[in-house]
Amino acid sequence: MHKKHWGIILLFGFMLVSLVACGGEDPTESSAEASEEIEAPSGEQVIQMATSADFPPFESINEHGEFVGFDIDLAHKIAEELGYGLEIQDMNFDGLIGALQSERADMVMAGMSATEERQENVDFSTSYHSSGEMFITQNGSDITSIEDIEGKTVGVQLGTIQEEGAEILQEEYDFEIHAVDEATNIIQELITNRIDVGYMDTTVAEGYIEKQDLAGFEDPTEASPGMAIAFPKGSDLQDEVNEVIDQFIEDGTILELEEKWELDES
Ligand code: ARG
Repeated sequence: MHKKHWGIILLFGFMLVSLVACGGEDPTESSAEASEEIEAPSGEQVIQMATSADFPPFESINEHGEFVGFDIDLAHKIAEELGYGLEIQDMNFDGLIGALQSERADMVMAGMSATEERQENVDFSTSYHSSGEMFITQNGSDITSIEDIEGKTVGVQLGTIQEEGAEILQEEYDFEIHAVDEATNIIQELITNRIDVGYMDTTVAEGYIEKQDLAGFEDPTEASPGMAIAFPKGSDLQDEVNEVIDQFIEDGTILELEEKWELDES
């Protein structure tokens, strides 16, 4: 055989091996990562959505391994209205902006607050919910106001506005920050006494306080921006999605979902 042919065969062999290597299960992937695909009607476009499913009632994974929550319902309704399919991937909150920047996702819904800083790297939709922030403690804790966090350990989720907010608060109060990958770990760490206080969005904190018999108090320091859908900069999807959100605000769809998932405007 001609030398050149061998070269081509080798090249194909190499490509095949790398394809197989890429397709294999990544053993470093955590078991919490899941993905779900809703078939688009014949060959239509599928929106790749990324989330961090550790944040009920916005997004979590139920006992059947399905994504559930306000953001999940809203995403399905938006995709349906636009005639797109929807595929949802779960990842750490910390990695969501990067997934948009590297175009591994078309949009992110993760109770994400539309901060100015994030707007340097992604575009946001119209805001669809606003939540304050809260400190969450064990029931009966003697930490009942912001002054009491002095000398304590405060848990936050990596990459959130609370992580950043805690760093700013540290200039005034002297406390330790313990950053974890998943919001649910904040509650775990609190219950097992590895942190004294958790810091998270009020809408989410209130649910945990009620279900896990915890306590908490409002963060008096700052008003956070509303939650919105994030897109890669310059995405075509942004305008289409904004129109649907406006429509859903007007026709009561958002209100209906807020009631279903018990999101109070807080
Ligand atoms: N609203 C906060 C932020 O944007 C926390 C969001 C955390 N979301 C989640 N799915 N864990 O930083």
